[in-house]
Amino acid sequence: MYQTLLTELQDGNLVITINRPDKLNALNKDVIQELGNAIDEVYNNSEIKTAIITGAGEKAFVAGADISEFTSLDASGGESLAKKGQEHVFDKIENCPKPVIAAVNGFALGGGCELAMACHFRVASENAKFGQPEVNLGLIPGYGGTQRLTQLIGKGKAMELLMTADMVNAAEAKELGLVNHVWPLADLMVKAREICQKIQGKAPIAITKVIYCANEAARGDADGFANEIKRFGECFATEDMREGTGAFVEKRKAVFKGK
Ligand code: COA
Repeated sequence: MYQTLLTELQDGNLVITINRPDKLNALNKDVIQELGNAIDEVYNNSEIKTAIITGAGEKAFVAGADISEFTSLDASGGESLAKKGQEHVFDKIENCPKPVIAAVNGFALGGGCELAMACHFRVASENAKFGQPEVNLGLIPGYGGTQRLTQLIGKGKAMELLMTADMVNAAEAKELGLVNHVWPLADLMVKAREICQKIQGKAPIAITKVIYCANEAARGDADGFANEIKRFGECFATEDMREGTGAFVEKRKAVFKGK
């Protein structure tokens, strides 16, 4: 179905694998187009409850935007490339009502680091390496990297990584708060799927509201607190809230329906 991606739906979890291992899964136009379409599938297919994005092979998650496509671009071409990517892929991932996790299995550089950061959270293998090396190319990040890196690790550390183009390894990325867990590569997908299964056991409407609220906090949205109050109230109108609180009182496990 896709030329540059592999997708596999299992137990309500869609694994999206960027599949250009000979180019270290670099994001060319086709990948951006297909990744956006795959995210649309996550939005629209009710069988999909959670998603994981990862890269093919054992070396790279994504080694950046495809630099070979940059050489022919002028200023407006560059701007529309960034705009299309942000709208069609990165913002759509961030605002996805269902959890999208990055399983970073190697290099996550430039657009790869930005892709991982657009996901709701990140787990990584021990060989993962993160960085925003755009200044090496006379560029800056264009897929949200300056914004999300600053949100995730704070201004001082973000400025240093953006200016030096230094890579950080998985342990350093964990220390910075860029990734939540680091596992051996062989365990990465198993562990990432386990987290997805755990989340799938929770109330889906509440999960969506958590995503929206936390995104607003990260963006410094002025309405974050007010929207939390509103959404908290909305939860009381769901069957799942009756089920969750009822099950607690009855000392049994809640079974949520997403209603
Ligand atoms: N765009 C296009 N092609 C890329 C790429 C990118 N971002 N990253 C890697 N590739 C290609 C290489 O050109 C090479 O292709 P080839 O075999 O046809 O020559 C192939 O992927 C393997 O990469 P190579 O550089 O040979 O691997 P390496 O192990 O020596 O180095 C990296 C790995 C990640 C350090 C190196 O590939 C690199 O610096 N990539 C660019 C990172 C970057 O600047 N990203 C930000 C882009 S805005």
